[in-house]
Amino acid sequence: MEKMTLAMPPEKLDKDSLVYKVNPDLSGIDWAYVCELFAKVNWRTRLAEEIEQAFRKSSWTLFVYKQEQLIAFGRTIDDGRYYAMLGDIVVDPDFQGNGLGKVLVNKLNSLLENYHFVTLTAAPGKGDFYKSLGWKKQTTAYIWPQGPKQLRQHTEEGEV
Ligand SMILES: CC(C)(COP(=O)(O)OP(=O)(O)OC[C@H]1O[C@@H](n2cnc3c(N)ncnc32)[C@H](O)[C@@H]1OP(=O)(O)O)[C@@H](O)C(=O)NCCC(=O)NCCS
Repeated sequence: MEKMTLAMPPEKLDKDSLVYKVNPDLSGIDWAYVCELFAKVNWRTRLAEEIEQAFRKSSWTLFVYKQEQLIAFGRTIDDGRYYAMLGDIVVDPDFQGNGLGKVLVNKLNSLLENYHFVTLTAAPGKGDFYKSLGWKKQTTAYIWPQGPKQLRQHTEEGEV
């Protein structure tokens, strides 16, 4: 018999029970689990030691927990003063649609006071998510594509 997998609808969350951790001690983060969440949203493989070192370079990191379970995270990638971008905005698919993405983006953005440039690169198909939060499409951004997939997904040349 053919095996059928049914996609479960995302879980409704009791928002008051969530714990938001801004700049927690990064030694206490389960980086292997962070890598699992990256895989769960189909992003390119991250290695636990490397992603930890990358997060350590961020001025701001934000982790969201449901009890002990990490369900969302995001960070800034920045120079501490002038330029910042939001990155690694990830919500566990089981908990998407509960407003967590919005909280991650708005909270991180609110921490970037007096920066001269605050930007982000939307994952393909996620532009409307950022637009709904008030972000504007930047007409002056350029990318050096790291391969044909990026050329296809992130540039006008690739949009045929
Ligand atoms: C994109 C992502 C962060 C959104 O998180 P989420 O918790 O599901 O989003 P929210 O529930 O906070 O949605 C906030 C608003 O954006 C809208 N929205 C969410 N995803 C959307 C999408 N893909 N396209 C358009 N609008 C979207 C919601 O309808 C909601 O609108 P409302 O406030 O009018 O109700 C989440 O889908 C995710 O982690 N995706 C995988 C990783 C990724 O692509 N990250 C971001 C790209 S850089």
